[in-house]
Parts: sequence; C-alpha cells; structure tokens
Amino acid sequence: MARRKLIAGNWKMNGLFGEGTTLAKTLADRLASAGPVGFDMLICPPATLVRTVAGLAAGSPLLVGGQDCHAKEKGAHTGDVSAEMLADAGAGHVIVGHSERRQDHRESDAVVRAKAEAAHRAGLVAIVCVGETREERDAGRAEEIVARQVGGSLPEGADGANTVIAYEPVWAIGTGLTATAADVAGMHAHIRRELEGKVASPGEMRILYGGSVKPSNAGELMAIGDVDGALVGGASLVADDFWAIAETCR
Ligand code: PGA
Repeated sequence: MARRKLIAGNWKMNGLFGEGTTLAKTLADRLASAGPVGFDMLICPPATLVRTVAGLAAGSPLLVGGQDCHAKEKGAHTGDVSAEMLADAGAGHVIVGHSERRQDHRESDAVVRAKAEAAHRAGLVAIVCVGETREERDAGRAEEIVARQVGGSLPEGADGANTVIAYEPVWAIGTGLTATAADVAGMHAHIRRELEGKVASPGEMRILYGGSVKPSNAGELMAIGDVDGALVGGASLVADDFWAIAETCR
C-alpha cells in the first residue's frame, strides 16, 4: 500500500486567538480550493485553540490535532488535558513524546507509550516522536537510541492507521540544522526495520521527518523513500512556508 504523505504543523506554545484562527482559516481555504492533492495536512495548535480550529477546518480536508495528552481519561491532574478531551474538542490526532516533553517534563518511553495508548483509547491517531541528541549522535549511538525509543514507546496494537512515527533529531529542532539526506534515509530505513515484528504491516506505518524543515530543504527530504511527510515547527506558523513545504509532496 502506498503511504500518503502527512505534513503536520506543530505550533508549540504559539497562537493567540486572532493569529491562530487567521492561520488555520488560510490553510483550510487553500486546501479546500486546491482540489485533490497527494498529501494530508494536519495542524496541532495549542489546546486552547483546538475546538476553534477544528470548527474552522470542518468542511475542508485540513486535519486538527493536539500536542500532548495525559495517559488517564480524567481525574486529579491539574493542568493536563486527556486524549478524550482532545477528541471531544474535534481533534483526530495527538503528538506524544515530543523531545520538548521528554526533556522539559522528563517523559520516559513508558510514559510516552501510555499516552499513545490513551490516544488510541480515545480514537486518536498517535504521532509518536523519537530522536537522538547531539551527544548521542556524536557518540555513534543514534540508531541504538532511536531503536530503544521506538521499542519502548509504541503500544500494543499500533498500526499504520492509528500511529505515525516522527523522527526528529533533537539537535535539529528549532536550530536551523537538518540531518543530511543520507542520514535521514539511513535512520528512516533503520526505523522501518525496527518495526518488523513489532507492529502489523510495518510497511504501512508513516515515518515523518522533523527538525528545521523549511521550504528550501523540504523537496530533498520529502523525496527520500522512507520519509512519509514532515513534522514542522517554526515554519508551520507562516502559512506560505507551511504550504510551500506541503507543495513539495503534491
Ligand atoms: P522546528 O520544530 O521545525 O521548528 O525545528 C520541529 C518540531 O519540534 O516538531
């Protein structure tokens, strides 16, 4: 089965009502008037905007997701948002295990896996992030680290319909640095091999690349065989840039 590319925007902690709705509406309108395209487009605004953005995207092919969820359905977890709440607000996807969560909130693979399970329980597609640090890469341990994250973070029952993997080298996020095409190709093939025996139909699971993806490098990255789309941070906040990245998959 051919894997359809997914261009996902992670707004992180950006987006007040005015700018967020303008950006979402611009993308929804462009997508609706573009006709058939060869990619899916997803935006993940902050939780405060999910319901509003999902409302704006309704009737267009634009997909909407959350940036994180708690593993539990509800309860005494001040400040957290459950997968059920995101689904209730109109999200269809949720990012889990982003390196900023792994670092800032000390999330382990086991925590990420529980969050991915929660996403599935709520009917959401989990976008499970993995990626090595600069020190790990320099020590020649990138493949080992990523294999361990993939093995530890994917829940039972993960498949190409309910789970997407995002490979994001930590040192490439928000730095303007990107891995070379050869390194990306090698790591994505490595991840695909790691999925063998762990998930049903590994060939159907999409593996996104993330880390300073921009219009100028997207064409080269998206042309790599095992790269099934992009997880875009900074450039997803500018409609023209995000659209230009997606256009490389048209
Ligand atoms: P960046 O972020 O595109 O700004 O590097 C990517 C991400 O963190 O998902």
